[in-house]
Amino acid sequence: MSEDIPDVAKALTRQGAICRAMGSPLNGDLLDRAAADWQAGGPVRALLEPWADLALKAQFEAAVPLRLIASWHELALSGDDPAVARAYERLDADAIWAAVHPAMTVQGARLAAFMTHEPQTNEVRRSICLLGGFLEIAKATGLPLRCFELAASAGLNLSWDRYGYQIGEDSWGDPRAAVQMDTDWTGAPPPVDAVVKVIERAACDRRPTDLSDPDQRRRLMSYIWADQPERLARLRAAIEVALAEGVAVETADAVDWTRREVALLGDAATVLYHSVFWTYMPPETQAALVAEIEAKAAHATANAPFAWLRMEPKPDNMAEMEVRLTLWPGGEERLLAEAHPHGAWVRWLAG
Ligand SMILES: C[S@@+](CC[C@H](N)C(=O)[O-])C[C@H]1O[C@@H](n2cnc3c(N)ncnc32)[C@H](O)[C@@H]1O
Repeated sequence: MSEDIPDVAKALTRQGAICRAMGSPLNGDLLDRAAADWQAGGPVRALLEPWADLALKAQFEAAVPLRLIASWHELALSGDDPAVARAYERLDADAIWAAVHPAMTVQGARLAAFMTHEPQTNEVRRSICLLGGFLEIAKATGLPLRCFELAASAGLNLSWDRYGYQIGEDSWGDPRAAVQMDTDWTGAPPPVDAVVKVIERAACDRRPTDLSDPDQRRRLMSYIWADQPERLARLRAAIEVALAEGVAVETADAVDWTRREVALLGDAATVLYHSVFWTYMPPETQAALVAEIEAKAAHATANAPFAWLRMEPKPDNMAEMEVRLTLWPGGEERLLAEAHPHGAWVRWLAG
C-alpha cells in the first residue's frame, strides 16, 4: 500500500499483521481484503465512515479494525445470516469474504450498530498468568484470600480458583472443572503446594458485560478470533461457570470502588488485582488509584496483609505483559512473570 492511503485503511492492514503474529491468519487475510475494499470504495468504506478521519493511533485506541471483524463474527454467531454462519464454520477466508461482502450491504445497519459499542473483552487464560501471584500470596501469608478484581469485564477471571490448570509437569485446581487451561510455561513452577481458600470475591467494571443478556454474551464471544476455537470454547465454559456461580460485577469506576469497597480484615489476605486495564486510565486516574492503594496498604499487618497483583503491558512493548506483585506489610514490589497477552506463554521469573 502506498503512503497516500489514509490511516483508516492503513489500520486495517496493520491490525491484520498483528492478528497473524498473534495466531489468527484468518483475520489477517480478512483485514487485507477489507483494506482493499476500502480503497475500491466498497461497503467497508461505508461501515468505517464514523472513524474515517481518525489518525492511526486513534484508530487503534478505538479498536476500529477489531470492531469490524467482530461485527462479522457476531453476525455469524447469531445465525441471522445463514450464509455468513456457514462460511465461518469452514474458517475459510475466501468463503467468509464472499459471504460478508454482500452482508455488509444487506445487514449494513446491523453491523454499523454493533460497531458503535465499545469493544468488550474478557480473556479467561489470563487466569493462568495471575495464578502464580495468588499462590505466592497464599504461601507468603498462610491466610485465606479475599479477592477484589478491578475492571473485571464479565468477571470471568474472578473464578480463577474454580478452574483447572496444567503448568508444565504440575497441575493446580480441579481437574474435572469445566474450564481447563494450560500454557507454554518456562522457568520454575509457581508454589502449587500453597493452601488456597478464597473466602470472598467482588469485582467492578465501568461497563461490565451482563452475562444474563444473550446479546451481550454474543458480543463478548464475537471479539474472540474465529480461528482460535479453543479460546472460544474456554470462554463459553467460563461463562457457564460464572452464570452457575452467580458471579457479579458492579458497575463502578475503579478508583471510587476501591475507596468504597476494599477494606482490610484480620485473619485474611486482601488481594486487589487487575489485568490489561491500567492503560485505559488517564495518568491522573492512575495516580489517584495508586494513592488509594497506598492508603489501604498503610493499614496492612501480618494478620491483615494487603496484596496488589497485576498483569499489565510492559511499558515499552504492549505485546508482552508483566505480572507484578506488591505485598504489605513490607511493600516490596516483585516482577513475578512475563506473559503473552492471552496467556499462551508465561515466563516465570520468581524463584
Ligand atoms: C481490555 S479489558 C480487560 C478486561 C479483563 N480485565 C480481562 O483481562 O479480560 C479492559 C476493561 O477495563 C475496563 N475499564 C477501563 N477503565 C476503567 C475504570 N476507570 N474503572 C473500571 N473499569 C474500567 C473496561 O470497561 C474493560 O472492561
